[in-house]
Amino acid sequence: MENFSVERKELLRLTKDTYVAVLGGEIDFKPGQFVMVDAGKLVRKPFMLGRWNAKAALSIKVVGDGTRRLVQSDSFRMHGPLGKPFKIPEGRGAVLVAPSGAATGMLFHEMGIRTVICTKEPLEIDVPFESVVGDKAFLKLLESLEGNADWVLVIGSKEMRKRAAEVLKDDILYVSLDEFMACGVGACKGCAVFAKGRVMHVCKNGPIFHAKIFGGELP
Ligand code: FES
Repeated sequence: MENFSVERKELLRLTKDTYVAVLGGEIDFKPGQFVMVDAGKLVRKPFMLGRWNAKAALSIKVVGDGTRRLVQSDSFRMHGPLGKPFKIPEGRGAVLVAPSGAATGMLFHEMGIRTVICTKEPLEIDVPFESVVGDKAFLKLLESLEGNADWVLVIGSKEMRKRAAEVLKDDILYVSLDEFMACGVGACKGCAVFAKGRVMHVCKNGPIFHAKIFGGELP
């Protein structure tokens, strides 16, 4: 784990509150890993690592003052990469991301894996991979994957995970629980989730998990 600073080269606005920050330096990381980024006032926030146009990138959803400061900032101080890399399963895969996971989605897209960005409202820019807009389209996408994909990874809201679990068998479903993380380093215990009676910590054991370990009770 390293502390480092990185310049922000470009800021793309995807929706009214979601951005992709394209970074100036290379970061050596694996799919599924994240960084903790200084958001001012001694607060660090977790962000999944991704790529955009072959450069390291982070997706940032503005939810308060800290994240607003981050999108206005032209450099970031961070440490990482952290978290357990996601071992990409064999076979036909699909990665479904909310706009807040767009940079991670792009990483999978650049690896040749089918990626779909699933939004409530049309995006403000074109992205070089598939997109679906609205709940009905998301449901239709899930239905089309049942029986036609060997694995599906969902990086998005609790609602997206819930819908995916209703349609897809849990042995093909993987979910990112990155939204549960706070300190990111195993100190606060705020990211504890229960998997068949065992306590797992999202920042240490994840953030990506096989849905099957939750025995039908996705967090
Ligand atoms: S985020 Fe603090 S222990 Fe995992």
